[in-house]
Amino acid sequence: MAEKKRATKADLKRVDSIIADYREQRWALIPLLHEIQGVLDYIPPEAIPRIARGLGLFSSQVQGVISFYTQFYTAPRGKNIVRVCRGTACHVRGAKTILKLVKQHLGIEENETTPDYDYSLETVACIGCCALAPNIVINRNIHGHMNPKKIASIFRH
Ligand code: FES
Repeated sequence: MAEKKRATKADLKRVDSIIADYREQRWALIPLLHEIQGVLDYIPPEAIPRIARGLGLFSSQVQGVISFYTQFYTAPRGKNIVRVCRGTACHVRGAKTILKLVKQHLGIEENETTPDYDYSLETVACIGCCALAPNIVINRNIHGHMNPKKIASIFRH
């Protein structure tokens, strides 16, 4: 798993300038979180009390919203996002084994990032390509009919 990266002073300065545009606008929490993540690719935990102060909320409220929505990340992710489909069709055709092999090749568990920040691993429900099951998605590319040989060739370094 990747070592915990901390937000730099420059990152927090950018966060502060985004917050300044939303001061005391409690309704704007979600757009604000999207904007911070759009700039930094994640929401640094150090930013949470700043966001709360800026909008007039409690840190626990900000944290609650971040935890509720799966599209928000509080740690930097890898350059490549690998998603293993665990929908029904993929499950029936061996998604469990595919996930196990991908974990072995990357040396990480689900929702973790490799130490070099090359890859993050996630699972998804159906991606709508059941005819190609089992599927994995790397960034925006769908790789269908996965098997151990294909997994090995994709993740060979
Ligand atoms: S279940 Fe995997 S694509 Fe539909």
